[in-house]
Amino acid sequence: MEEKIKSLEKAFEEDCQKAATPKEFEFLRIKYLGRSSRLSQFFSQLPNLIPQERGIWGKRLNCLKQKMTALLANEARGPLKDEENFDLTFPSSPFQLGSRHILTTVNQKICSIFENLGFAVAEGGEIEDEWHNFTALNIPLEHPSRDVFDTFYLDIKEKNNGKYLLRSHTSPSQTRIMKIGKPPLAVISPGRVYRPDEVDATHSFMFHQIEGFAVGEDLNFAHLKGVLLHFAHKFFTPEITLRFRPHFFPFTEPSAEVDISCFVCRRKKEKGASRDTLHASRKCSVCKGKGWLEVLGCGMIHPQVLDNCEIDSKKYKGFAFGMGVERIAMLKYGIGDIRLFYENDVRFLEQFSI
Ligand code: PHE
Repeated sequence: MEEKIKSLEKAFEEDCQKAATPKEFEFLRIKYLGRSSRLSQFFSQLPNLIPQERGIWGKRLNCLKQKMTALLANEARGPLKDEENFDLTFPSSPFQLGSRHILTTVNQKICSIFENLGFAVAEGGEIEDEWHNFTALNIPLEHPSRDVFDTFYLDIKEKNNGKYLLRSHTSPSQTRIMKIGKPPLAVISPGRVYRPDEVDATHSFMFHQIEGFAVGEDLNFAHLKGVLLHFAHKFFTPEITLRFRPHFFPFTEPSAEVDISCFVCRRKKEKGASRDTLHASRKCSVCKGKGWLEVLGCGMIHPQVLDNCEIDSKKYKGFAFGMGVERIAMLKYGIGDIRLFYENDVRFLEQFSI
């Protein structure tokens, strides 16, 4: 046995001396350490030996294997041929550091404001069923948003909860979380939503929303107002005031659309302007002279929605709001075209890199 091992060791050493390139060493690795190598044949003979001998020869073979492995691993790295020409002081080739996308930054900023108020963050899935996206939210069958022109339905076999679709808003997160969670709840849910809209400067078939809602025993509209005012002060500037315009959403009652006072012209009265023109300039390019900027939809969660999610609407009340991340980012940074977010043009993106 010892003779056989010695001859293998010798053959290995001779072959190593002849080999020069990493490729040749790789060939030797397969020849001497591979599955059908002589070494592995020796290993496979070990069980035939008596126990005392098995230990001795096992050790001997393992020693050889280690020696071969170490030598080949060293050589496979290849010799540093140009060692003498290697200049450690030579400047490295320039490379650009990446940074977060503006939408990610805005999304995180918004979420962290609500997290500081005690809201938990929960992301929902982008594929929803009709029950969570519409029915549970009190959106009736004849509602236009259920139309094939307004929703991407998927070609997947439907189950008990109706057809599958790409969620058209983040509000199904409300229904999913309320079904599994017990009040008190305070949750925000960011994510992508999809609507088959014609793409233009203010529309995209995919965009981002942040849903927020809270459910508790004594919540009322004042809590909703307080939370949203705090958000607007933290995200835009502390001088901002809010305007709640009555609106309709099937899943909130009462419902409102919320405007922030224009933080560019600050609704200042133009000299000599009539009483009706409350604010500064008709020239303000951000609010177009209106003085207000629409930012989100909100309301008190409709009792039917609470009941649909098995939360007792006699005992609990809730508020909810939903905002478009692109819209908020466009307002804050004066971005005039939604398509810029998705084109991956570094000239646009690097303006917001931090
Ligand atoms: N889901 C609504 C939308 O997409 C926004 C909204 C959310 C309104 C929550 C009220 C309450 O337009």
